[in-house]
Amino acid sequence: MKGFTIIAACDARSGIGKNNDLPWKLSADMKHFRDCTMARHDRGEAQNVLIMGRRTWESLPEQRKPLHGRHNVVLSTGELSGLPSSVDHCRSLNDAVMRYCADEGHRYGRVFVIGGEQLYRCAIQHPSCEALYLTMIESVYDCDRYFPPIPSAFREIARTAPMIENGLTFFFSEFKRDIP
Ligand SMILES: NC(=O)c1ccc[n+]([C@@H]2O[C@H](COP(=O)([O-])OP(=O)(O)OC[C@H]3O[C@@H](n4cnc5c(N)ncnc54)[C@H](OP(=O)(O)O)[C@@H]3O)[C@@H](O)[C@H]2O)c1
Repeated sequence: MKGFTIIAACDARSGIGKNNDLPWKLSADMKHFRDCTMARHDRGEAQNVLIMGRRTWESLPEQRKPLHGRHNVVLSTGELSGLPSSVDHCRSLNDAVMRYCADEGHRYGRVFVIGGEQLYRCAIQHPSCEALYLTMIESVYDCDRYFPPIPSAFREIARTAPMIENGLTFFFSEFKRDIP
């Protein structure tokens, strides 16, 4: 069974959201998110999977959802009405892992957990979580949602040089779970 990767952007105090929206506009991070999560069909890669919490799904602008070129999955313990037919609903992270990480039909490529806070808190503790792609923004925003502490099993294996956009300094970082 394959593992999944968490992808998130955090401010200097691990803030990730405010009023069910992102606290910042960072086009380089949007491009990074797309580049990381989009399969390369020209290389014959299967479509990747994006797993998100119900509130994150609701936060996406109508014209951007489902996030195109990737298989969108929304987690909710309840009923979800009005989901497009191409979008799947799972009732727990385990259900989603069994469906998309086990993937016995090899229909899907990589699996990403894309937020928000409630789902990150559960996903980072899950044994199938093998990597974290984090955008680290070196400013502090007014936030009401936060990324959880990174367990000691994860080690930073790469980070880019700092970049600047509209006065914001940020870098991209990759953590991998240590193999025991
Ligand atoms: N900076 C970033 O990278 C980033 C990325 C994504 C989102 N965000 C931000 O994060 C905020 C949203 O986070 P949030 O914590 O409020 O909401 P969330 O995690 O997106 O959604 C929470 C809801 O999803 C469902 N859910 C979550 N985990 C589940 C699980 N393990 N099993 C079953 N259902 C599960 C539940 O739905 P039910 O109540 O229906 O059961 C829960 O109430 C927004 O501000 C958004 O902009 C930031």
